[in-house]
Amino acid sequence: MTPARGAACGKVILLGEHAVVHGTPAIAAGIERGAEATVIPAPEGRSSLHLAGIEHLPGEAKTPLCHAFAALLATFPDLPPVRITAESRLLPGGGLGSSAALGVAIARAAATFATSTGSATSVDAAQILAAAGAWERVFHGNPSGIDTTAAALGGCFLYTRAEGASPLALRHDVWLAVGSTGTSASTKSMVESVARLFERKPEVRDHTLPAITALVRNAALALEAGDLKGLGHLLDLNQMLLAGIFVSTEDLERMCLLAREAGALGAKLTGAGGGGSLIALLDARSDDDAARAAAPVLAAWRAAGYDGQLARIS
Ligand code: PMV
Repeated sequence: MTPARGAACGKVILLGEHAVVHGTPAIAAGIERGAEATVIPAPEGRSSLHLAGIEHLPGEAKTPLCHAFAALLATFPDLPPVRITAESRLLPGGGLGSSAALGVAIARAAATFATSTGSATSVDAAQILAAAGAWERVFHGNPSGIDTTAAALGGCFLYTRAEGASPLALRHDVWLAVGSTGTSASTKSMVESVARLFERKPEVRDHTLPAITALVRNAALALEAGDLKGLGHLLDLNQMLLAGIFVSTEDLERMCLLAREAGALGAKLTGAGGGGSLIALLDARSDDDAARAAAPVLAAWRAAGYDGQLARIS
């Protein structure tokens, strides 16, 4: 039997991370790099997940991956034992949605396997999101769902926990330099630290959440109008608010500054922060423009010891 395959993209959050966990809107977009999974019948007669050469068994309490795998399989109750091999091309804990991309890719491969072997008649998008959500909750405790939605949908969309995704009609493609600090932090602990801050200082929550909401709503308008300068300014303001809730780091601040000095229209961390990745908006309206605008940003990061690459949001 040919293996059943599934794939999913990574994501960047353009604006609104962390606040989105508390019910406000955010904007996310899929990026080309992501994760892939293949499923075959289990020769050993018991299900297993193989990731970076390491085997994880769903019944074992050894790692969060074992728990996440068990939680995902539980959403396919009639699936026969399977051997799943998965791979992510995204840095774990890097703010690019690596675990969500893996969850969606594995869920898609399992769904294809289930329908081709007759253990399910059809699997719809809501079931894929439910399976990936069960996986993601093991790692992140209280995920907003934006990562799994972006991994499944791609494109660029406005998202709230209550209403899910509303696609945005971009005036034209948007080019970003995506940088990596080279360090990573646990999304779960970053989300928990913001929740604790909001509990201890409700006044911080009460000024941060409405301010981020206003930035996100304006950014949706800027994206649809093709106003890159306005969008860049909104990214910078969002970064200030993220620093105000202590999720930025010295590396992230330094990389944002280097990007702005090298001509980026705005820059901010993306994802949970505490390290991980950042995005810098390029003054570009074509692939050629983007390569020209990205070069000094990537060179400045490289000279300071950081990595980065160009990404297009379409
Ligand atoms: O670091 P990432 O890629 O897992 O992004 C998480 C985004 C948060 O808003 C911080 C958490 C969430 O569940 O929305």
